[in-house]
Amino acid sequence: MKVVNIVGARPQFIKLAPVLRAIKRYNQKYPKNVIESVIIHTGQHYDYEMSQIFFEELEIEEPDYYLEVGSGSHGHQTGEILKRTEDVLLSERPDLVIVYGDTNSTLGGALAAAKLHIPVAHVEAGLRSFNRQMPEEINRVLTDHISDLLFCPTKVAVENLKREGIEKGVYFVGDVMYDSVLYNIKLAEKNSEIMSYLRLKPKTYALATVHRAGNTDNYQRLITIFQALEKIAQEIIPVILPLHTRTRRRLEKLGIVLKNVRIFEPLSYLDMLLLEKNARVILTDSGGVQKEAFFLKVPCITLREETEWIETVETGWNTLVGCNIEKILEAVQTAKPGKKNCNPYGDGQAADKIVSIIVKGYEG
Ligand code: UD1
Ligand code: UDP
Repeated sequence: MKVVNIVGARPQFIKLAPVLRAIKRYNQKYPKNVIESVIIHTGQHYDYEMSQIFFEELEIEEPDYYLEVGSGSHGHQTGEILKRTEDVLLSERPDLVIVYGDTNSTLGGALAAAKLHIPVAHVEAGLRSFNRQMPEEINRVLTDHISDLLFCPTKVAVENLKREGIEKGVYFVGDVMYDSVLYNIKLAEKNSEIMSYLRLKPKTYALATVHRAGNTDNYQRLITIFQALEKIAQEIIPVILPLHTRTRRRLEKLGIVLKNVRIFEPLSYLDMLLLEKNARVILTDSGGVQKEAFFLKVPCITLREETEWIETVETGWNTLVGCNIEKILEAVQTAKPGKKNCNPYGDGQAADKIVSIIVKGYEG
């Protein structure tokens, strides 16, 4: 059986790694029945620290195809991904295409496959924020509706799909990002030197990330969030901010200079995990970081009005504050742990489940 994995953006490289490890495990166990695995990197993310660093650190083999799509408007980027992926799929003719998450690479890749009648598996299916202003929500909904295998990280995701009339091919497998944290946190604790490099002591700082279009492309929201981060750093607790390239460009363009927040280039995954684990509190608009805060038992403050990772809120680990400055400051001052001993994101073996379902489907 041949599968083609389509990735292009930072969180997708992180989601790909546990699935590739599970495929390797399967191939070692069943050498007569190996899964041939091909990687297409669309080139949506291309800076070293947004792309290559993850291939190196997570030991992902070099992509078989690098499509060099680069940045652009949604239509342009998604269209180029669709066009260039189609060419590869026509020559590779895989039995299955696997797409990850909710980026333009997810939708472009899924659409190219579906139009060629190649079955599509969606890892992280069924998530909904119910906010169609988010580009990710459009990508999720459309990808789910053209997928044949829908791998849900949560039970809520299964219910979301049911409400949209999708029941066939739906599996609750748990979250591959949980698999990834369990595997990598020990490596991070052993190998990452980020704490000493930044001269940080555990639980003495707040970690922040900001990159979602809803926050970076709206001047008022961006200004409010950065005013809040500056105030936190000045009055409450030091703030460490590994800055997404998108946000850095916006701040530069708008001439916004930060005096108190400690800003860095985007970090490697292992450095990021260790900084997350040792943070007193995390402020973010990232989907992945909200969950990692939950897995690593660090209180999280989400700089959005809604989240598709609702379990993190229901269990008390995550607080939605939007971009209201008073709410953000109060949430930092009152941040505390949530419920213990609950994990709605599976048992850490989502990737193995995905592989065994894929193989069963292929063998009929
Ligand atoms: C994309 C995803 C978002 C995901 C995020 C993960 C879409 C619609 N959005 O958002 O869901 O949370 O990735 O990080 O797919 N840039 C660089 N270098 C890079 C990559 C980007 O400079 O290597 C800059 C460019 O100015 C680019 C901007 O960042 O225009 C935005 O990049 P893009 O991939 O379009 O969206 P993200 O905001 O990264
Ligand atoms: N991440 C990282 N370095 C950073 C910021 C984030 O390795 O400087 C990791 C983070 O640990 C998580 C993933 O990137 O695993 C989240 O990706 P991102 O926030 O870009 O996108 P989202 O999850 O919001 O789609």
